Parts: sequence; structure tokens; C-alpha cells
Amino acid sequence: MRRGPSDEMKINALYPGTFDPPTNGHIDLVERGSKIFDHVTVAVLTNPVKNPLFTVEERVEMLQEATRGFGNVSVATFDGMMVDFAREIGAKVVLRGIRAISDYEHEFQMALMNRRLAPELETVFLQPAGRYSFVSSRMVKEVVSFGGKVEGLVPPNVIKRLKSRIKKS
Ligand SMILES: Nc1ncnc2c1ncn2[C@@H]1O[C@H](COP(=O)(O)OP(=O)(O)OP(=O)(O)O)[C@@H](O)[C@H]1O
Ligand SMILES: [Mg+2]
Repeated sequence: MRRGPSDEMKINALYPGTFDPPTNGHIDLVERGSKIFDHVTVAVLTNPVKNPLFTVEERVEMLQEATRGFGNVSVATFDGMMVDFAREIGAKVVLRGIRAISDYEHEFQMALMNRRLAPELETVFLQPAGRYSFVSSRMVKEVVSFGGKVEGLVPPNVIKRLKSRIKKS
């Protein structure tokens, strides 16, 4: 008799990042991950980043709004080491995105360090759709701060928040 996977066989993936703010590149990766894995936890790193534009709570809200349509995605926060949080939530996979070769060196170093720290955890790299392969949170903030348009590069809820945040400051 064929059965569905038991809970131990389910593959939960952890997608950690700063998400200041989430972009369509991030959401594209979440969607791809949600089709491969049983569950994806998107987790906002709360270690202090230099001058984040959005609070951790705002980033969580933006991610929740943008991933509401996926049935098997949740949003969390963590501090300290990613591998500890992965163990805590029972994730077997760490999901990361590779936009270009330039991402690879840093991601490769992190993946190997994480493997040393937690050999049972596998890092899986996914590529976004080509139209998002140049999008980063930093570039989006830069463009908006100079009055440029980022429609199509970030979710609509993020556009609203970016505009009001950058107007106020
Ligand atoms: N456009 C994108 N397509 C695919 N993966 C992405 C994209 N942007 C970020 N990622 C990946 O998502 C993960 C988390 O990234 P992070 O939160 O640092 O976003 P970022 O856009 O690189 O932000 P920043 O510009 O502040 O560095 C990393 O693995 C990163 O490579
Ligand atoms: Mg980055």
C-alpha cells in the first residue's frame, strides 16, 4: 500500500535572510522552494544589521503578506546561529539564492561552514527567474531613495511601505 510521507520523512526547508525589504527575487525563491519541499520557513535574522530601513516586525509582516498565497510557507524570526534555529524547527534543508557568480563565493563559504557546524543540514541553492537576477534589497532602497520606480521588482505591499518610509525620512 502506498502511503504519504510520515512526519519524519517530511522535508522542511529554512530560508534565512535579512529581507530589508523582501523583493520579488526573495518571493520567487520562496515559491520555487514551496513546490519542492513540504514546508518552507522564511526566517528574518534579527541580529542587528547596520541601519536597517524596516524593523524586524515590519519585515515579518511584509513577508507574511507576500507569501499568504502559498499554503506551506510560514514566517519566523531568529537570532544567533542559523544552524541552531534549523535544528530547533527540524529543518533538513537551508534554502539560499544564487543570482550571479558574485553571490557564489560568499554562499559557498557559508554553506561549508554551516556543514561543519551541522553536518545533517544540506544547503540547497535555487536560481530566481532571470528578470529578478539583478534585484537586491540594497539596490531597491537605493533606487527608491533617488525617486526611481521599483514596480515589478518588489511586492505591491512593499512599494507602499517603501514610499511612505522614504518620504518620512
Ligand atoms: N533577487 C534574488 N534572487 C534570488 N535570490 C536572492 C535574491 N535576492 C536575494 N537572494 C538570496 O536570498 C538570501 C537572503 O538574502 P538577503 O536577505 O541578503 O537579500 P539581499 O537582497 O541580498 O539583501 P542586501 O542587498 O541587503 O544584501 C540570499 O541567499 C540571497 O542570495
Ligand atoms: Mg545580500
